[in-house]
Amino acid sequence: MTASTDNWEEVQATSREALGPAIVEYIDECHQDPAPAGKLIAVLHRVQAEYGYLGAAHLDAVAQLLRVPAAKVAGVASFYHFFRLEPRGKHVINVCMGTACYVKGADQIAARLISELGITFGETSSDGMFSLEAARCLGTCGLAPIVMVDDDVHAQVTPDQVPIILDKYLRQATAET
Ligand code: FES
Repeated sequence: MTASTDNWEEVQATSREALGPAIVEYIDECHQDPAPAGKLIAVLHRVQAEYGYLGAAHLDAVAQLLRVPAAKVAGVASFYHFFRLEPRGKHVINVCMGTACYVKGADQIAARLISELGITFGETSSDGMFSLEAARCLGTCGLAPIVMVDDDVHAQVTPDQVPIILDKYLRQATAET
């Protein structure tokens, strides 16, 4: 009996450490609700906002502290496209696939990025440098087609400019080391 209590305390401590005090406090607040499991998506959003993605240790910790079956937590995390299950790269590339950009060749830019990076949308390059994502209209249609890298807007991009843009960030990273 004592052993299982000790184990639960250990599991709780590990889970609290995995999520950090702010999220643990939020989960504690969720337990004031008559149906805390209904807050699962809100909790996962907070974890992703804090850590950038939902790792296996985060999901286990949410299951333990919110007292929701681990399979349900994993199912919800993988069902919704806005949850990321892997860490993002150092730079996040958003290719605008909105109508104005599409008409101006966004699909060719996307194809060049996919070929240069060896990854597809939603993935991160093996060196951890770039994550590739597709965006809806980024609000600067007059400059289509648009590629954003982090907060930098690259306007009227052509497929041949893609390696040049990538190289700029790679050279920056080399200069920082
Ligand atoms: S459609 Fe790309 S910025 Fe509007």
